[in-house]
Formats: sequence, structure tokens, C-alpha cells
Amino acid sequence: MAKALIMLVRVLGLAAIVLGVLLWAGGSQYLGAHIGSGFAVALLVFVLAVIALTKKAVLPGILGVVLAVLLPVVGFMQFPLSFHSLRAVQVAHFVFALLTIGLAERIYSGIRKGG
Ligand code: HEM
Repeated sequence: MAKALIMLVRVLGLAAIVLGVLLWAGGSQYLGAHIGSGFAVALLVFVLAVIALTKKAVLPGILGVVLAVLLPVVGFMQFPLSFHSLRAVQVAHFVFALLTIGLAERIYSGIRKGG
């Protein structure tokens, strides 16, 4: 179960990064696909985090729940769209996105080994 979830995080996370950069570069047609894949990653990380909590991997579990909620919140804070600009909110969104994907790997290893 966790293995399938982390595989999906890897594929959809990569897709969200590529679609996000295309969106930022002016491709507004990628907005729906970006938000769809981004939300899917957030949901997957949330489920992985809950599994981690049931396996006593408490810290990664709590961090996972927090980041899974913050990612879409910061994502929506970027509206109205301002292509090509790198304001603090866009930098924060990118950093949170990378942190969320990285944390998913940490959560997965916590689920496998415990802790
Ligand atoms: C794993 C999930 C996600 C990844 C990897 C990701 C990545 C990115 C990247 C690399 C960009 C371009 C640079 C930037 O503006 O930071 C971007 C832009 C954007 N993302 Fe995400 N994102 C994710 C989830 C989301 C979610 C859930 C939303 C929900 C609303 C969202 C909304 C946006 C918007 C609106 C922009 C365009 C900002 C602009 O052009 O002004 N993203 N994302």
C-alpha cells in the first residue's frame, strides 16, 4: 500500500514540478493539470503521513500532515496569477512543494523501518 502511494508521489510530484514551471513561464493552459496533480500529491502525502502515525513514526507523520495542508494553501495564495514573477509567495510555494516531496520519501522509510 505505502509502496504504491510513494510511487504515485514520485510520478505526480515530477509532473507537478514540470507543469508548475510551464505555468509560471506563462502557460496558463497548464493551471488545471498543475493544480490537479499538486492536490493529488498533497492528498497522497496526507495518507502516507496518517499511515506513518499508526506505525509510530510520529515526527514525520505530523510534519506530513502539516505540509499536506500548507502546500495547497500557499498554492492558492499565488492568485491572481503573475507569470514570470518570483515574489516571496512563489518562492515559498516552490520550497514547500520540494519539502513535501522530500518528506514523502522520509515518511515512506519511516513506515518501512518504523520511527
Ligand atoms: C507537489 C505539488 C506541487 C508542486 C511540485 C508545485 C510546483 C510548482 C512550481 C515549480 C511552480 C512554478 C514556480 C512557482 O510559482 O513557485 C508552481 C506554480 C504554481 N502553483 Fe504549484 N505546485 C504544487 C502544488 C500546487 C497546488 C496544490 C496548488 C493549488 C492551488 C498550486 C498552485 C500553483 C499556482 C497558482 C502557480 C502559479 C504561480 C504564478 O505563476 O504566479 N500548486 N507550482
